Amino acid sequence: MKLQTRAMNLSARFVPIQWQVRAAHLAQQALERVGLAPQTPKFSEHPLPDVSSLAIEDVDVSNPFLWRQGLWDAYFRRLRNEKPVHFQQNSAFGPFWSVTRFSDILFVDKRHDLFSAEPIITLGDQPAGLAIETFIAMDPPKHDRQRQAVQGVVAPKNLRELEGLIRQRTQDVLDQLPVDEPIDWVNDVSIELTARMLATLLDFPYDQRRKLVYWSDLAAASPETTGGDVGRDEFFPAVADVARSFSMLWREKEALRDSGEKPGFDVISMMVNNEDTKDLIHRPMEFLGNLALLIVGGNDTTRNSMTGGVLALHKFPKEFDKLKANPALIPNMVSEIIRWQTPLAYMRRVAKKDVELNGEKIRKGDKVVMWYASGNRDERAIDKPDQFIIDRKGARNHLSFGFGVHRCMGNRLAEMQLRILWEEVLARFDQIEVLDEPEYVQSNFVRGYTRMMVKLTKKN
Ligand code: HEM
Repeated sequence: MKLQTRAMNLSARFVPIQWQVRAAHLAQQALERVGLAPQTPKFSEHPLPDVSSLAIEDVDVSNPFLWRQGLWDAYFRRLRNEKPVHFQQNSAFGPFWSVTRFSDILFVDKRHDLFSAEPIITLGDQPAGLAIETFIAMDPPKHDRQRQAVQGVVAPKNLRELEGLIRQRTQDVLDQLPVDEPIDWVNDVSIELTARMLATLLDFPYDQRRKLVYWSDLAAASPETTGGDVGRDEFFPAVADVARSFSMLWREKEALRDSGEKPGFDVISMMVNNEDTKDLIHRPMEFLGNLALLIVGGNDTTRNSMTGGVLALHKFPKEFDKLKANPALIPNMVSEIIRWQTPLAYMRRVAKKDVELNGEKIRKGDKVVMWYASGNRDERAIDKPDQFIIDRKGARNHLSFGFGVHRCMGNRLAEMQLRILWEEVLARFDQIEVLDEPEYVQSNFVRGYTRMMVKLTKKN
């Protein structure tokens, strides 16, 4: 365990976590002033070269503008065809292997005995000064215990109870949308709906739900981890704010537990009442890490699938006609949207031993990146993978939720949210016209949108 983590755990009983985060920030600033802190990388956008002009060893898919510039498709196709397990020596995130074919990705994801999820699942390392720990980046058995503590929140029984609430909130959001005039689908629908859902899952004050979105966006956008554009001076105060808000919520749930009240079905109550996590608040780095995971896990991903679905139907208008003629296709379409969008481009692992994969020798300690976004376009596993086909056979057989012990905990919840959204959209609107090219997030990890203007036409 890192020295900083041990020190924070020891003082957690006496010093509120937000103060500790503040102290870590001050220490970091002091180190920066005397030139002892690692430099934060800065990414500025330039047009990327055509992949066919590059030597294969120079292909670098970690560039955070690849997706925004619409080039990811050609870059990954070349890797899949020529060098499916590819080594990049000189990226801004250090050397790493890219695994780009469907079957190889499955292999890596399932073999946690060979590939570790620790210490982090993004290409780059954690921002200096704050070594947050989270169960998506832990190996069994610790991972299994912590996942077990919270997975009840997305158990089928809980989902059935949540369904009515999600539907009512979806109806509410859609009923307020103006028709026949430009609106931003990202802000007005995708963000609003996922913020409402997240506030429900965490039992977070409903009127402050947009804070969850802000924190989630920050957590996923540091330059060190994903090539994003959030500076340390914005990052640390936000983490302190998360710590303060959730410590308060945690203490409230503890008080309810101690007074003998029946626990609620929200994630915080579950953690407070579980043997393995009830003292999480005394382990600040894990406390923050697991909250960050739940906030980010349930936010960016579903949100960008909500936008991606509209974009996909716009690019493949015949599929929209098919959908209107047969709304029973919605559940299948939801899986197809999640494949087509692949909201998280990859997960990273570290080799625990020397491993040979598709003829390449990966050495113990090497970073290995499973590019789900590429595997989901692999023609060896998926028929016509670039097409969006809402009645595709075997549509659930995609990589977007990962596989193995870390397979997405919220996959059924995400599918339910998207199914309800489309059921309610079809009940109200005849057309969703995408007015401009959407704006894209700067990241090599999140395949997301910051804005997409659309015009709705009411159903007669
Ligand atoms: C893990 C994707 C929605 C919570 C993951 C992983 C992926 C993923 C790729 C890692 C899988 C691996 O390493 O093998 C997605 C996508 C979503 C989505 C594409 C929506 C379309 C959600 C939601 C929640 C959530 C709504 C909220 C509960 C989690 C958690 C983990 C996880 C807690 C960690 C699981 C573990 O390490 O055991 N997700 N996710 N996700 N997701 Fe999701």
